[in-house]
Amino acid sequence: MTDQPLRHEKYTHGHAPATLQQHAQRTADEAAAFLLPHLRPGMRLLDVGCGPGSITRGLAERLAPGQVVGIDLSKEALDGARHDAAARGLANLQYEEGSVYRLRFADALFDVVYAHQVLQHLHERGSALREMLRVVRPGGLVAVRDVDWGTAAYWPRDPWIDRFVEVHHQTWYRNGGEPQMGRQLRSLFNASDVVDVRITAAAWCYTTPADTAAWGEAYADRLLTSPMGERPVEYGFATRAEIESMAAAFRAWGSHPDATWMFVHVEALGRKAA
Ligand SMILES: C[S@@+](CC[C@H](N)C(=O)[O-])C[C@H]1O[C@@H](n2cnc3c(N)ncnc32)[C@H](O)[C@@H]1O
Repeated sequence: MTDQPLRHEKYTHGHAPATLQQHAQRTADEAAAFLLPHLRPGMRLLDVGCGPGSITRGLAERLAPGQVVGIDLSKEALDGARHDAAARGLANLQYEEGSVYRLRFADALFDVVYAHQVLQHLHERGSALREMLRVVRPGGLVAVRDVDWGTAAYWPRDPWIDRFVEVHHQTWYRNGGEPQMGRQLRSLFNASDVVDVRITAAAWCYTTPADTAAWGEAYADRLLTSPMGERPVEYGFATRAEIESMAAAFRAWGSHPDATWMFVHVEALGRKAA
């Protein structure tokens, strides 16, 4: 396996500032709530595809003095994560560039391996999970959370937002990923060397003026300034004018007093078979 992205695999969201800023709002309290009750200080954890590190940092704070390592393919994302860890003086947290397909760690080195919103972007999800399991000790935890874009529900309807959801799916599949990964996690775990599998789900809901404005603005910015809007044009799935209409629709939707958005994020937790 290569430590570069697979040739037919492209990270749908990209690492434009608008995307990294949105991801950096995430917290361990929310994104790892299904895992936190099983964590104890001193455990060693690997966060795969850690992005800007706001979740990784929260995990490191809980596990200290246990070592926490975040890995990601993106140097830009890791620069921000390292800066944040240094500013907080987190001595038990380190970041490394690398791919989930070929981790540089010895077998069974970690007590826990975690991946938040990553498997959905991979083409070889079974290989990725196998490699994650390789570096966990027998009996150690594997925890994964992925969105299911097939559950996106919003109001009031707008034909340009409907069109966005359709084009986003098309582009995501063309990039080699799986936008409806959430519903497939149980099957992925059942097919691997994991026992005690527990599947749960949480909904992300945006139903206050501040939340819907932030979500609408963020998606508008991402459509206009990141691969989320560039790749559909490159692939011939939408024109630039259509992308601009989708962005305008997200902005208008975000400030509508009835605006409501929700989708489901599925959580899979298990233990590496002894
Ligand atoms: C949606 S972001 C999630 C970031 C972070 N886990 C979070 O939830 O905020 C997906 C991350 O996976 C990374 N990624 C994609 N393919 C990867 C691979 N093969 N190996 C490691 N990281 C990868 C991307 O660079 C990106 O930072």
